[in-house]
Amino acid sequence: MKGVTLLTKPIRKFRKPIQNLLVFGGIILLTTLAIVFILSNESLKFKKTQAETEINEPVNNTLTKTNSQFPEISIITDFSDDVYTPFKLVYPQTDNDHFNASILTYITETKNDYLTTMNNNINNEKKDTTVSGELNIGLEIFQHNEIYYSFVLTTVVYTGGENQRTSTKTFFYNLETGEMLDLKSLLNGNDNNLIKLATYVRGQLEQHPQLKNQILVEKLETTTKPVWTNFQCFAIKDESLLIYFNEYEVASGVVGSPVIAVELSFINPILATEFQAKNIQVNHATIINPNTKRVALTFDDGPRPEVTMRILQSLEKYKAKATFYMLGKSVQQSPETAKEVLTRGHEIGNHTWSHPILTKLTKEQILNEYNSTSEAIFNATGQYATTFRPPYGAINDFVNAQIPLPIAIWSIDTLDWKHKNAQTLLTIVKKSIHNNAIILMHDIHSSTADGLEPLLAYLQEQGYEFVTVSEINKYKE
Ligand code: NI
Repeated sequence: MKGVTLLTKPIRKFRKPIQNLLVFGGIILLTTLAIVFILSNESLKFKKTQAETEINEPVNNTLTKTNSQFPEISIITDFSDDVYTPFKLVYPQTDNDHFNASILTYITETKNDYLTTMNNNINNEKKDTTVSGELNIGLEIFQHNEIYYSFVLTTVVYTGGENQRTSTKTFFYNLETGEMLDLKSLLNGNDNNLIKLATYVRGQLEQHPQLKNQILVEKLETTTKPVWTNFQCFAIKDESLLIYFNEYEVASGVVGSPVIAVELSFINPILATEFQAKNIQVNHATIINPNTKRVALTFDDGPRPEVTMRILQSLEKYKAKATFYMLGKSVQQSPETAKEVLTRGHEIGNHTWSHPILTKLTKEQILNEYNSTSEAIFNATGQYATTFRPPYGAINDFVNAQIPLPIAIWSIDTLDWKHKNAQTLLTIVKKSIHNNAIILMHDIHSSTADGLEPLLAYLQEQGYEFVTVSEINKYKE
């Protein structure tokens, strides 16, 4: 047993070097494996570097030029079906170098960003499976008043990850002068016009049925602030001013990129003359001799069918045009009468929904009164109101800032609501009539309908022409 013990000991002693050898061998093996691994990894990297070189010059890249529907504008298509970085970029080209350079700057920057991101992705990929990207730039062209063109470039980009991103870039361009125009030119550089547009657009975003629950309050506040650097993404399409917002700029991603359409008939008064829609409200275009005397008859608080229709008949007899400041709630009750007013060539103004004293209301309440009436008038007649009259003439800077339309007060108050007397109506007007007068009456009292014809006869005899408020405003400026 001892021998065994003895023997065991030397054997144990003898085995130690073997163990050491095994350990060393193992280390050598592992090192070799590690070196092989690193080397193979290097060669992997080397392969990828080669791939990068290929992607920088995308295969099958073609550039084609075609005609657009507008003779002065060509369409360029930059296309590649590269397996990792395919793209299709469609953009306009004209004879104007400055315009072409502006467009190309945007196109090139977008394309380079995409290719760089994709190349970085490919270099950093651990597996061979590299997701191929996507870049599409689509183009829409809208023409306005013959010489103005809106170019809307919609970019969709995907560089891996969960979502593709969409963004919009616009160019507004005078094809005659070759001038690029911004929103400031459109609004005549007038700060008040900007405030009115900003207020209106914000109101539309806040009340939009799909957007209102997704609004990012702070972002909306910043994005719709009345500063000239905002609202730079716009186009004029089919008698509407379109204001584009990118994803997450005003609302959460689920609603995509919101676009607000502002009817030109609605903002015509705040646009510089050359951008105003030409063919809107032809109804109201009366041939006016600048040397004749003019008067604007206005009827508030209607429509009330039994009175309003009688007034329309009297106006018809004298070929007189007038303006009706309607209450939203009455328009909702009598949409046919509202429609008839417009059909007969008169003008409709917004007089709030429920006739409150606006100076006592909050911003939200004012916007509610205004917007609900604006909608009711549009729903009934297919057109928006052109001017706004505050109930009781109660207005201040705060109220004014919320209302995008020109404010129309009056210069002669007939007090028809108080005396309700057909004869007194004429007596009061006779006393204070003057050129470019705006006369306040109400188409809710039958006494006013009774007294209208004698009033029309008198004013016509005095050489007055009967025009709408929008028309008379042109002579007052
Ligand atoms: Ni009123």
